[in-house]
Amino acid sequence: MDLLSMLRQEINKADFETALHKTVTLLRDHVSYYNWVGVYMLEGEELVLKAWDGPQATQHVRIPLGEGICGLAAREQRTVIVGDVNADPRYLACFPYTRSEIVVPIFSNSKIVGEIDIDSDTLDAFTEKDQKFLEEVAVFLGEKYAWS
Ligand code: SME
Repeated sequence: MDLLSMLRQEINKADFETALHKTVTLLRDHVSYYNWVGVYMLEGEELVLKAWDGPQATQHVRIPLGEGICGLAAREQRTVIVGDVNADPRYLACFPYTRSEIVVPIFSNSKIVGEIDIDSDTLDAFTEKDQKFLEEVAVFLGEKYAWS
C-alpha cells in the first residue's frame, strides 16, 4: 500500500488525537528527509503543538500567529516552503541541524484549524511533490477534525 493510502486508512479509523500521532510517525518513518514532523493546532491567536516525531523535542510548543514560518503559513493560509532556513529571517530556530522546512495548513470547513510542520536536515529538501502530497494529508486531517 502506498503511504498516502496508509495515512488515509489510519486517520479514518482513529480518533483525532490518535490520528495526529499516527500521521507524524508514519510520515517520519517513511520519508528519509522528513527529519522532524509536527502538527500544530490553532488555539485563539496561538499555534499549539499537539503531536510530533523526531530526534528531539522543540522548545516552540506554542507559537504566536505573528511568529516564524508556522505563523506566516497560518496568517497567509497557504503552504510555505523555505529551502534554506538560515537565509530566512522569519525562521524560528528549533534544531541546529535543520536546513529546510515546509508548513502546510490544515483546513476544516474552509477555516484554518492547524498545520503540518516538517523540518529537514537537507537543504532544499521540499518540492511541489511534497507540497501536493502533504496538502492531501492535511485534507484527511481536516475532515477528521470536522467529525471529532
Ligand atoms: N521553525 C518553525 C518553528 C517550529 S520548529 O520547526 C519545530 C517556524 O519558523 O515557525
